[in-house]
Amino acid sequence: MKTAIIYYSKHGTTEHVAYLIGESLNHKVDYISLRESPKVDIRTYDRIILGTSIYAGTSSRIVTQFCNKNRLLLEQKVIGLFICRMNKEQETKEMEKAFPEYLQKLASNKLNTRQE
Ligand SMILES: Cc1cc2nc3c(=O)[nH]c(=O)nc-3n(C[C@H](O)[C@H](O)[C@H](O)COP(=O)(O)O)c2cc1C
Repeated sequence: MKTAIIYYSKHGTTEHVAYLIGESLNHKVDYISLRESPKVDIRTYDRIILGTSIYAGTSSRIVTQFCNKNRLLLEQKVIGLFICRMNKEQETKEMEKAFPEYLQKLASNKLNTRQE
């Protein structure tokens, strides 16, 4: 299964978590930063793990644009989602807001990480 971990990170935490997740998988993974490559081509991947940091309660516009532009392709993939954040109270809300509803329904795995 060809996997890409695609992430949006401003200050490096989400990128770090992306690599930790990738290292825990027992096969080759491509890492793609949405800040550097917002127009990434995902056609060749079977599995997409998508992660974002949370600022002001939500993900970056770049993440939303990626999800909207690639909807037809993403609907054909195995999906995993993760967010990096610090707000304990808003845990469920922030995960729900971070990615569009169609992607939440598709996700086979969701990871919610919090900085202490
Ligand atoms: C200005 C600012 C705003 C933030 N807003 C939120 C927030 O609304 N909710 C939350 O849970 N975390 C918030 N955080 C915490 C970040 O989501 C968290 O530190 C995350 O790990 C940063 O990831 P990054 O290093 O990949 O950018 C905020 C952090 C900063 C600096």
